[in-house]
Amino acid sequence: MYDLIILGGGPAGYNASERAAHAGLKTLVIEERALGGVCLNEGCIPTKTFLYSAKIFDYGKHASDYGVTFGSSAIDHSKVVDRKNKVVSMLVGGVGSTLKKAGVEVVKATATIKERNAEGFVVTADGKDYVAKQILVCTGSSAAVPPIPGLSDSIKNGFALTNREILDLREIPKSIVVVGGGVIGLEMASYFNSVGSKVYVVEMLDHIAGPTDLEISALLQKTYEKKGVEFILNAKVTSIADKKVSYEKDGKVSEIPCDYALVSIGRRARTAGLGLENIGVKIERGAIVTDEYGKTNVPGVWAAGDVNGKSMLAHTAYREGEVCINNILGKKDRINYNSIPSVIYTNPEVAAVGETEQTAKAKGLNVKIKTVPLVFSGRYIAENEGGNGFIKLIVDADHNNIVGLHMIGTYASEIIYGAAMMVETEMRIADIQKMVFPHPTVCEVIREALFQF
Ligand code: NAI
Repeated sequence: MYDLIILGGGPAGYNASERAAHAGLKTLVIEERALGGVCLNEGCIPTKTFLYSAKIFDYGKHASDYGVTFGSSAIDHSKVVDRKNKVVSMLVGGVGSTLKKAGVEVVKATATIKERNAEGFVVTADGKDYVAKQILVCTGSSAAVPPIPGLSDSIKNGFALTNREILDLREIPKSIVVVGGGVIGLEMASYFNSVGSKVYVVEMLDHIAGPTDLEISALLQKTYEKKGVEFILNAKVTSIADKKVSYEKDGKVSEIPCDYALVSIGRRARTAGLGLENIGVKIERGAIVTDEYGKTNVPGVWAAGDVNGKSMLAHTAYREGEVCINNILGKKDRINYNSIPSVIYTNPEVAAVGETEQTAKAKGLNVKIKTVPLVFSGRYIAENEGGNGFIKLIVDADHNNIVGLHMIGTYASEIIYGAAMMVETEMRIADIQKMVFPHPTVCEVIREALFQF
């Protein structure tokens, strides 16, 4: 008998299992593929190895702007993939040994919830039954594959790729069509553009990067257009087959011949086949319904991470898993979804937290908005020839605190956590102004911007 069985060993599951075991709960994690889930194996981390190689390659291309001359440079994509595999296996191994040290048991199998009986919840894996007092479902998400004509066959024959297959491609495609200009699409478009592919991005909306601040999304698009990426917006993909992607725009159907198509049009929670119906767990639009404490409608059953369909980010998953464990342990805890930072690891990077201009206005908040160019930072100018990044601050005019911060430019991904703290703790502008920021840095533009209100 276990205190807790966790289904899924991704960021939500493995982090929660470690916290649970440290707190003395007898914990079992059942994972069908590899510990680390999508994040470590086919998401956040592998894509960062790709993008870092591209960044080095790009630095080389522009080195002469900074007075540096290299010999000829080239990228060996297959070596980039080898290094990605090395990094992934190192990190997956690290998670395994951390869990072992913490006393978490791990079973590699597909888990199904069988029933709830007098003893507890019965979970079957590899023909064996495991019983626990409570269950935490962390089964994540998988790439959405909508019924676009030709798509499933194209996935089978290797023409269409999802976030999983694209990371194991051993060649640099001459041309690739990215279907969906969201986070995955843009990061992969950035990589393949840097390494020399002709990249097209076909997006249904009239802008890229979904919920991102519209001025930032426009600058990101312009920057990548200059680098040679072609964006086709307001376009509906009508078929993906025979080495071409067809789309309809303004009532006219066109096609783009290409070596590969990347399908990055969102993700779906993984709830099918888990046996959730056997214990009556409520599912809406394919995702498990949870409250702010991570509870489902069934007492003793919790869910965290992408499977609840809420924020679908690894860092949200970590925190949601922790929230569940704290509540299981009787320590009331909840997650604040308003202060979760988001990052797009393009070059330049995009990062944001809190309200955008658009969401603040839609909520009727009384806000003041200031945009400050990053050239206010000496370090930014020193390191970015011709750089035009900026930071946008959304301040609640009634309470004088930051409710949103949006940024495009170097180090955005590392700077945003500071802004998230300001949003989460509702720090007053007057208090932030008293803080000393390091100089010279790009982050000091935040402080500078605050003096403009
Ligand atoms: P997404 O939701 O970010 O973007 C999907 C895009 O596809 C949207 O812009 C949507 O309008 C468009 N779209 C949908 N159907 C379409 C169609 N038929 N034709 C053309 N465009 C269409 O989803 P994405 O990029 O697949 O990422 C999935 C998840 O992974 C997201 O929740 C994201 O947060 C997470 N992720 C996070 C990363 C990060 O934090 N840096 C990196 C990669 C993924």
